[in-house]
Amino acid sequence: MHIGRVIGNRVLETTFRMNFGEELQVGEMLVAESGPTSDRYLIRVMDIEHGADSDELNWMSIEAGRMLRMDAEQHEYDLGKIYDNLHCIGTSSPLGCIGDEFRKTKTIPHHFSKVRRTNADDYEFLKDTLGDIQVGSLRSGDRVMNFPVGISGRSIPHHIGIFATTGMGKSNLMKNLALSCMRLRKYGFLILDPHGEYYDGGEVGKKGLKQAELDDALVVFSSRKLDGPYNSLHVASSEIQIADLENLYEFTQAQKEFMENAQFKFQDTWLTDINDKSVQEIHGALGGRFHEGSINVVKRRLETLFRFDLISRDPKLSITNHVIDCLHDGKVVLVDTSNMYEAEELLISTVLARAIFERHKLIYGDKAKFEKIPPVLIALEEAQRVLTEAKGSIFAQIAREGRKFKAGLCAVSQQPKLIDSEVISQFNTLFILGLADRRDREILRNSAKQDISQLDNEIQMLMPGEALIASPFTPFAIPVKVHLYENYLEKSVEDAPKRVFKKSMINNTFY
Ligand SMILES: Nc1ncnc2c1ncn2[C@@H]1O[C@H](COP(=O)(O)OP(=O)(O)O)[C@@H](O)[C@H]1O
Ligand SMILES: [Mg+2]
Repeated sequence: MHIGRVIGNRVLETTFRMNFGEELQVGEMLVAESGPTSDRYLIRVMDIEHGADSDELNWMSIEAGRMLRMDAEQHEYDLGKIYDNLHCIGTSSPLGCIGDEFRKTKTIPHHFSKVRRTNADDYEFLKDTLGDIQVGSLRSGDRVMNFPVGISGRSIPHHIGIFATTGMGKSNLMKNLALSCMRLRKYGFLILDPHGEYYDGGEVGKKGLKQAELDDALVVFSSRKLDGPYNSLHVASSEIQIADLENLYEFTQAQKEFMENAQFKFQDTWLTDINDKSVQEIHGALGGRFHEGSINVVKRRLETLFRFDLISRDPKLSITNHVIDCLHDGKVVLVDTSNMYEAEELLISTVLARAIFERHKLIYGDKAKFEKIPPVLIALEEAQRVLTEAKGSIFAQIAREGRKFKAGLCAVSQQPKLIDSEVISQFNTLFILGLADRRDREILRNSAKQDISQLDNEIQMLMPGEALIASPFTPFAIPVKVHLYENYLEKSVEDAPKRVFKKSMINNTFY
């Protein structure tokens, strides 16, 4: 049954009149059609206002005055007698036209077309574009539809951004992505977890990846003790570059030159040598060229990095090869750095990200081998920390060049405005959850690959777990209600993405 009739049309805006009392929400998707065989125009509600039928100008205002006077005299006003005069006007923007295929709207619905709510049939055309990594269900306003929504593995090397104000559901979304990847075993997913929330949920009542009980699909590295199997964290001194340290600390030119010389002199063990040797020894070994004060400052800066046995002299002890092998085996690799200082945590992240990127670059030369490796997604919380000063950061480099090498970033941030604008424009798939800050929304509007300029109202009104997915792989920004992870876990494997998305599985080999 229809709920309204079109009253005004421009190609980029359709207005319609609704029956009084009909519930309508911003963000809701509707269909305008002139008959059962006509093209269906899929439209999204942008705004709703009151209207009234009356010959009198300002009738509503005059009538409200009448009501107020009656209120003051404690007389009941009979609303029933004016219901027939009242209606609502919905303003909507077109998403596209559903005919034999889905196409952009270049025409307008007929005069007085009927406007109705959508049903699952109306979204059939989306099935092939919504990918296999399921995260939730299609949403129309806050109505959740029985229609699974995800992203395609194709989007991994094109980078993914997850942006929302704290508490709006970023971590929950990440867990859904991870669970779908664990069930699929088609993509490598590295999660760097500085808050310790992904292993077991981190809080009473929450669940983590461990509870998925997919032990074949999950490998955990951690610097703190965990209740279950995990590996400890080590990287080799030789894997750390001066540029990595510059991302963590400020160094003067003299201190930098000292490090360059120490690296040249001590080669692969330079970092451990700076830590182990005394200031005098280093001073002597470098021919007395560097001031003991500079050596001392660098030593002190690096001291924190040597807690937890994180950095080893022996490259064989480094976890990087193990991590990459697991990722190439289609597993989710969780690196829990929650008891580390920020500097150590960022160092681990940097070393792992670089190792993956360099390895993929190397394999790229061997086409047959390259085709066999799955795309790898590197997820990073508080990504604004490493995507600010783009120059020199491995993460910014992956954002710019990773696409060719099947290495994608998944940046999670509550402040996208702090991310370098050139870098953020490389993120092709954006999960936009509730964002309170106007400047955060603006930056996403400018970098999204779809026009989301008209969705500002909607983004402000999103509740926790409600998201829009803007990506070049779908015809418009897809509204989704992300599963609550704890519920998604309960869903039987029968409902898991590979069953739901049979068709896209076939099309979606590791291209
Ligand atoms: N998809 C969802 N469905 C229902 N509730 C959600 C959803 N996502 C998040 N929430 C609620 O919001 C809270 C905060 O989510 P969280 O993922 O930790 O947010 P963030 O990481 O953005 O701070 C969760 O504890 C949960 O109660
Ligand atoms: Mg979080």
